[in-house]
Amino acid sequence: MPRGPSLKARQFTESVIREMTREAREHGAVNLAQGFPDFGAPEALKAAAVAALGAEINQYAITWGAKGFRDAIAGKARRDLGLDVDPETEITVTCGATEAMIASMLALVDPGDEVVIFEPFYENYGPDVVLSGAVPRFVRLQPPDWHFDTEELERAFGPRTRAVVLNTPNNPTGKVFMRAELEAIAALCVKWDTLVFTDEIYEHILYDGAEHVAMATLPGMRERTVIINSLSKTYSVTGWRVGWAIAAPEITGAIRKVHDFLTVGAPAPLQEAGVRALGLPASYYTELAAGYHARRDFMLAALGQAGFGFWKPRGAYYVMTEISAFGFENDVAFARWLVREVGIAVVPGSSFYSDPASGARQVRFCFPKRRETLEEAAQRLATVPERAALARRR
Ligand SMILES: Cc1ncc(COP(=O)(O)O)c(C=O)c1O
Repeated sequence: MPRGPSLKARQFTESVIREMTREAREHGAVNLAQGFPDFGAPEALKAAAVAALGAEINQYAITWGAKGFRDAIAGKARRDLGLDVDPETEITVTCGATEAMIASMLALVDPGDEVVIFEPFYENYGPDVVLSGAVPRFVRLQPPDWHFDTEELERAFGPRTRAVVLNTPNNPTGKVFMRAELEAIAALCVKWDTLVFTDEIYEHILYDGAEHVAMATLPGMRERTVIINSLSKTYSVTGWRVGWAIAAPEITGAIRKVHDFLTVGAPAPLQEAGVRALGLPASYYTELAAGYHARRDFMLAALGQAGFGFWKPRGAYYVMTEISAFGFENDVAFARWLVREVGIAVVPGSSFYSDPASGARQVRFCFPKRRETLEEAAQRLATVPERAALARRR
């Protein structure tokens, strides 16, 4: 390459999560690394997508989203969050939550600004901040309940704080932020005039009575929150690449501009099918959560039997585990061994922390998989203690 990567591109590595997916393919492993379902998408959505292609919805949609889909998003916001959202001025349809987050940051954060991120964090947020030229300020979530220390949070805020990234229900921890915690964050955002980018893509995947509270519904927060969501997880269509950002008109204006030049728009026929998705009945969401509840419990039992420590998730479809019992040098060595020798791909914990040492004893499993896949994984997991003991003796 004539001059090599840019200074920005040099500051982060390739995605470890996506790398583990490639390793899983190479070694014929069960892929419990990257969070996507191996079961089918809802039939009604596939039919709606096919119908949209047939109806010649094959050209660019309006850059900030097809009108019907924006109307459906506004309807969902009213129904689920009790928020009145103007589809004409407050919604941007994007290529997944991924684009919604980076477009929001590029649109609203300046070089040198600081962005507060709770860690462990979904790995995209790191490069998002770097690409925006901003400086991350990490606040630790501490097991077993992944709470944060309010004083540490206070210390992370200052005059340069432009935004907070909040992901609830949380990947990788399964934490669901409680109202009191959100209130503490909100108070600091109001005090320091800070925006919040909330990644709420797991809002419907909740366990044990956990409740999703949207930051934008707290007093004073609607005008400073960018709500980010997507079809990917709720409707099991991670490959469709359709998401959205909801924010006050002035903020949306900036996001729309950046979005237009990044991608022009999200897939038009799949936005059409998205209208069908957002119109699914309440029973769809109940069944979705029940299905994941059963998968979670199956997975936790298998992990417990195999000698993993774990922190029980209250939402999303991941579980962070503790691997000290197996005697490996660190999380990366363990994950490489697990994919090659046991045939299970996971994500090393270090990829969720700014300082890799913090995740050196953790790996993340995901469980959005068919029962057969999880049973196969459980059988392989059962061999871990014995194989690990052998590996130690070598
Ligand atoms: C917290 C979080 N945000 C965003 C994404 C990506 O979402 P999308 O497919 O809508 O881009 C993921 C995918 O795993 C995720 O876990």
